[in-house]
Amino acid sequence: METGIRHTHLLTVILFLAIYLIKTILLLMNKDEALAKFSKGFKVPEMIISFLFLGTGIYMMIQLPEIKSLLIIKIVAVLLSIPLAVIGFKKKNKMLAVASLLLIIGAYGMAEMSKKQKSKSMEGITESNVNGQELYIASCEKCHGEDGKLNLLGAKDLSISTMDLNARIEIIKNGKNAMAPFSEILNEEQIKAVAEYTETLKK
Ligand code: HEC
Repeated sequence: METGIRHTHLLTVILFLAIYLIKTILLLMNKDEALAKFSKGFKVPEMIISFLFLGTGIYMMIQLPEIKSLLIIKIVAVLLSIPLAVIGFKKKNKMLAVASLLLIIGAYGMAEMSKKQKSKSMEGITESNVNGQELYIASCEKCHGEDGKLNLLGAKDLSISTMDLNARIEIIKNGKNAMAPFSEILNEEQIKAVAEYTETLKK
């Protein structure tokens, strides 16, 4: 499902930017009639695309283990740019329309950059790394938090979990609800190491 969401997001971002770019160009060229026609024709697709773009974007941002402030800046930038664009096009205000376009591109650029940072932090995790704590920081902390208490997306509080080691290994392997399976990301030895590490979070 993750890759499906990522692909939907990428596609909607491209379509979204393409529509905005065309509209901005028409506005800048004073082609009012063409702009009105284009806006009318693309009204419904644009609404569907914006909805998918935002929805998949927010879902993906939640899944990324990145600095929270950056995440908030991105969401605010995207949410700000939409009313700016709506007003900009309605009032034929070129500055506003261009500003909103730049804001969206900027927000998306930041999302891309932080995604790259994410894959870098995952690079440190090689097949031979069986340090439970390092594996936990790289793969689990975004939902469970450093101390196991974050409970993001309904994650269970690991500091009070009474689950035994085997059950922990099973849930890490196979996942449950919002927790994705790790059987293809971590090998047996790593899963055991990270499961053992979670037991140390118990108070
Ligand atoms: C996308 C968020 C997410 C990530 C990443 C994640 N988990 Fe979870 N985890 C959850 C959720 C949600 C649950 C609760 C599942 C349920 O019972 O509905 C959970 C439950 C658990 C439980 C069971 C706790 C209990 O008492 O029921 C363990 C153990 C656990 N996770 C360990 C890990 C480990 C170790 C990793 C990293 C390898 C990890 N999780 C990564 C979301 C996540």
